[in-house]
Formats: sequence, C-alpha cells, structure tokens
Amino acid sequence: MSDKSTKTTEILEKQRAHLWPNHLLYYTEPMPLERGDGLYVWDVEGKQYLDFFAGILTTSVGHNNPKVNKRVHEQVDKLLHTSTLYPSENHVTLGEKLAEITPGDLNTFYFGTSGTDADETAVMIAKIYTGYQEIIALRHGYSGKSPMGMALTGQAPWRIGGTQIAGIKHALTPYCYRCPLKMTYPSCGVACAEDVEDVIRTSTSGKIAAFLAEPIQGVGGFITPPAEYFAIVQEIVHRYGGLMIIDEVQTGFGRTGEHWFGIEHAGIAPDVMTMAKGIANGLPLSATATTPEIAQSTASAGLTISTFGGNPVSTAAALGVLEALHEDAPPARSADVGAHLRAGLERLSEKYPLIGDVRGRGLMQGVELVLDRETKEPAPKQVAAIFEATRSLGLLIGKGGLYGNTLRIAPPLTATKEHVDEAIEKLDVAFARVQETV
Ligand SMILES: Cc1ncc(COP(=O)(O)O)c(C=O)c1O
Repeated sequence: MSDKSTKTTEILEKQRAHLWPNHLLYYTEPMPLERGDGLYVWDVEGKQYLDFFAGILTTSVGHNNPKVNKRVHEQVDKLLHTSTLYPSENHVTLGEKLAEITPGDLNTFYFGTSGTDADETAVMIAKIYTGYQEIIALRHGYSGKSPMGMALTGQAPWRIGGTQIAGIKHALTPYCYRCPLKMTYPSCGVACAEDVEDVIRTSTSGKIAAFLAEPIQGVGGFITPPAEYFAIVQEIVHRYGGLMIIDEVQTGFGRTGEHWFGIEHAGIAPDVMTMAKGIANGLPLSATATTPEIAQSTASAGLTISTFGGNPVSTAAALGVLEALHEDAPPARSADVGAHLRAGLERLSEKYPLIGDVRGRGLMQGVELVLDRETKEPAPKQVAAIFEATRSLGLLIGKGGLYGNTLRIAPPLTATKEHVDEAIEKLDVAFARVQETV
C-alpha cells in the first residue's frame, strides 16, 4: 500500500470513528480531496478530476480563484472576526455591491452563514412584516437542515427524525416531466400554479406569511418550472397576504444564465430573496435580501445578533467573487457556455435511451435517467453506475431528485466550452458503459 492510499484509509477510518454516519458521502469508495485549481481538483492520491459539481454549486468562480484568494489573504492578516455588534467595511460594502445586481428594490440585507440560516431569516421577516404565521412551500423543494429547513423541505428522505412543524404546507411542484396533474405543458395552462391557492384555502387559516420556493429545485433534481409559473403564484400569494420568498441558494449569481438571479427568468421581483453557496466561493456566508420597507419592520420587532454573520473574511471572499463574476464570468457567459453544455447533453440523450429528460438553465443542467422512456421508471442504480464510471474517468458530477435518478451538472461559472467538451466526452464513455447493462 502506498503512502497516499494509507492517507485515504486513515481519513476514512477517522471519518467513521468521529463523524456521524448521517454525513452523506459520494461514491462507494469516497475520496478525500486535497487541493484545487480552477476547474480541477485532486484527491489525496494525486488523481485529478474535472469538477462539474463545484462543491454543490458553491465554488462559483473556480477553485483557488486568485481574485477571491487575494482578498481573503489580506483580510486574514488584518482581522478574522467582529460579530454583527460592530460595523465592518466589508460587510456594508458587500450590501452595497449586491444591491447593484439584485432585482427590484431588494437592496437591504441580513448576512448569515448558511443557506439554512438565510431561509430561516426570510421566514422570520415574513412573519414579522405580515403578522401571519403560515408558510407554503413546494413538494420536492429543499430548504436546509434546521428543524424548520427540514419541515419546509418537500422530500421525506431529507426530513430526518420525521421533523414536521405546524403551519407549513406543501403545494404541487411544477415538475413537467412527471406532471402531478398528468397534464402537458403548455396546453395545461400551468394549472399546477393554481394549487397554491387551493392549499391556502383548504389547509391554512386563509392568510399566509409567505410562499417559499426555488426558481429551479436544486436537491429536487433541477426541476425547472415553466417561465409563467412564478408570476401566477405571486399574484395568488399577495392576494392572501403573503410575501414571495425566492431561494436563490443554488440558482444565484448568474448560474442560470442571462440574469444574475434565477427568478428573473420569470420576469418578477420577489419580496424576499435568499442566497448562499456561490456567494463566497466556498467560505461560509449567506444573505437574505428584502426591500427597505419590509426590512424596516424588524426595527422594533425585538433583538437579533449573528455571531458569524457578515464575517470579515467571508465577506472579503464575496467581494472577490463579485469582482471575478463581473470581469470573467458574467451571466451572459454562463448562458453561452450553458447552451453548449445543454447541446452536448441533448446529443447524449439522442444516443442513450437511459436519458429520459434533460432540463435546466445556463450552467445548471439536470439529466433524469429512466429504465423505459414510456413508463419513466426511475433508474437510480444506473445513476450510481454512471457515478462510479465518471469518477474513474476523472469527472465529478452531482445527483439528486426524490427518486435518486437525476444527474446534476453544474460546473464553476468560469468553465469554458473546452471544459464542457471534456465533460461531455467523459459522460459519453460512462453512458456507453452503463447503457449496455440496462
Ligand atoms: C435551495 C437550497 N436552499 C437552502 C439550502 C441549505 O443550505 P446550507 O446547506 O448552506 O444550509 C440548500 C442546500 O443545498 C439549497 O440547495
């Protein structure tokens, strides 16, 4: 056994001994990663991988991005921590810079440390502002690992401990490939959007604090609603007294192409928006954005602190991310490289019957695998086989979906068309191997 494989073995032994077993690990033989550069990462054995999952859509501008790292290094040498009790320049500058790219009037922020934290904060402000308590979320959605995050989540496997919270109801999700109403878009007239009104009228007190949803359901398997869906829902939500909370944790920062935020494809501005993951290229940071009017409602509501919220190092990284996005990877570029990725995946779909659906926007593309295109029987075992094959070929991808049968492909936004070609080539080889076994 080489030194390196001893290191892998050692790390995995310590993982088993000291980390809880509910840490989900990818691959039958999980590989500890040691370093990264741009689109590539290396494991402790020295094997190189092309990273098309970006640490769950988080390394938005590539590993070890020099613009991010320079600011992080400078800040580390000055001051690591203040807490939200003291104003800090990075904290307020980040608010100012984010306000330049957020839709509508969403130019005030509360910074936290995770997507879960941001969604919790969004629900808190919706309750304060409206005076109502009930929340509508979507089936197949994902909102995080706190008790409320899990209760908002519309997938049983992620609601560990059976967590439920009164006052949270789930409406049908606009999952066109498996339409819950057995209808077909566009002749359906986006009928699923009306279910939000039905749920409010039948399962709540009739007034809600908020509706919370992702523009594209990430953990749900990149379920991509028709463009009209959110405008219909927003009208309903406002009519019943609620705020529209849009979770941009996965879809933010140009990931979906053309626009800075995924909801902008729907042509609406939400009342509250949450961001995390790609905001700081991997450092823990999140933001909840809202309008000055809604933010003002917190002024006399009580006390809030966040020990790590707006941390100077994380906010320095976020300022570097914005600089890198503006200069090197703006939304128009994600749209262009994303279209190239989509075309490559469509070509694979013509070749391999295992592929039932290709969906998504920009550099956020999902590939749903089925055993039979007619019955649409999910193919989770084949997803597992594609995973092992791509790993051996040196390509990292993600997976998701309630049925465990969707590949999630989402590289750093700095990916080039050449990187996409390399990924498609490896996927082609992997699919050829796995299709044979079906
Ligand atoms: C859409 C969405 N919201 C919230 C979260 C929770 O984020 P975190 O894991 O940073 O708490 C996630 C995490 O995957 C997510 O995808």
